[in-house]
Amino acid sequence: MFETTIPTGDTENRDRPPIALAQAEEKVVVPRPPDLMVPIRSLGENHRDRIAEHLLSLNPQDRYFRFGFAAKDPQVQAYVNGLNFERDEVFGIYNRRLKLIAMAHLAYSSDKRISASSEFGVSVLAHVRGRGYGARLFERAVMHARNEGVTSMYVHVLSENTAMLKIARRGGASVVRDGAESEAYLSLMPATFQTQVTEIMEEHLAQANYRFKAQSKQFWDTFGRLQKVWRL
Ligand SMILES: CC(C)(COP(=O)(O)OP(=O)(O)OC[C@H]1O[C@@H](n2cnc3c(N)ncnc32)[C@H](O)[C@@H]1OP(=O)(O)O)[C@@H](O)C(=O)NCCC(=O)NCCS
Repeated sequence: MFETTIPTGDTENRDRPPIALAQAEEKVVVPRPPDLMVPIRSLGENHRDRIAEHLLSLNPQDRYFRFGFAAKDPQVQAYVNGLNFERDEVFGIYNRRLKLIAMAHLAYSSDKRISASSEFGVSVLAHVRGRGYGARLFERAVMHARNEGVTSMYVHVLSENTAMLKIARRGGASVVRDGAESEAYLSLMPATFQTQVTEIMEEHLAQANYRFKAQSKQFWDTFGRLQKVWRL
């Protein structure tokens, strides 16, 4: 296991959230047609605080699915502090208010990417699930890993995590179930000219989209402040 999960060293006594939370979670998902173009950008050091905000806002059930146990706030924060943006790849989707609504971490088995293997971890905020963001992040991570020369990808999935298992299977992974836990494994094809150009284009568009959102947010924040002054 690489670093998309927090090692607890204790698989027997996992802090497992109550079933009621899982059931409540399922009610949140409102199916809707997937968004056509999802601006997924790679995240660097200056996004660490927003990554922390995103992961800390996950409820215990989501944390249990994401990390393999119901990680407490300090454990989530330690994971975020330990993210190595030089070695690994972190992708994110921002909404109009520049809130990080979905993110994925692709951790490599070694600094040398060629022939390395990788581990994928993902989370999407509850109110935007069912729009295809999880699947798009998986596809983007696969494309990036291929372009880096990585040969395989793993996802550690709890067997009850239907959504993640669907994403992995649809993405071509074979899933091996071992009781409560499953391992999704995907053997990656070598990069092609198309995967390389597509990734460059997608990243470019996502960066432009982010800049547009940032400027728009700045405008509306300033407008809001001026409105308050005018009302005085
Ligand atoms: C798993 C997770 C990332 C999925 O995100 P998402 O954006 O809702 O996923 P998608 O919209 O791409 O949906 C993928 C598939 O799962 C299905 N799905 C989504 N939520 C589901 C649920 N609660 N139960 C069953 N299926 C579900 C979708 O309908 C879709 O299937 P389809 O392609 O047949 O339509 C999200 O639920 C999450 O963040 N969970 C907590 C963290 C986690 O489990 N991480 C994965 C382990 S690393």
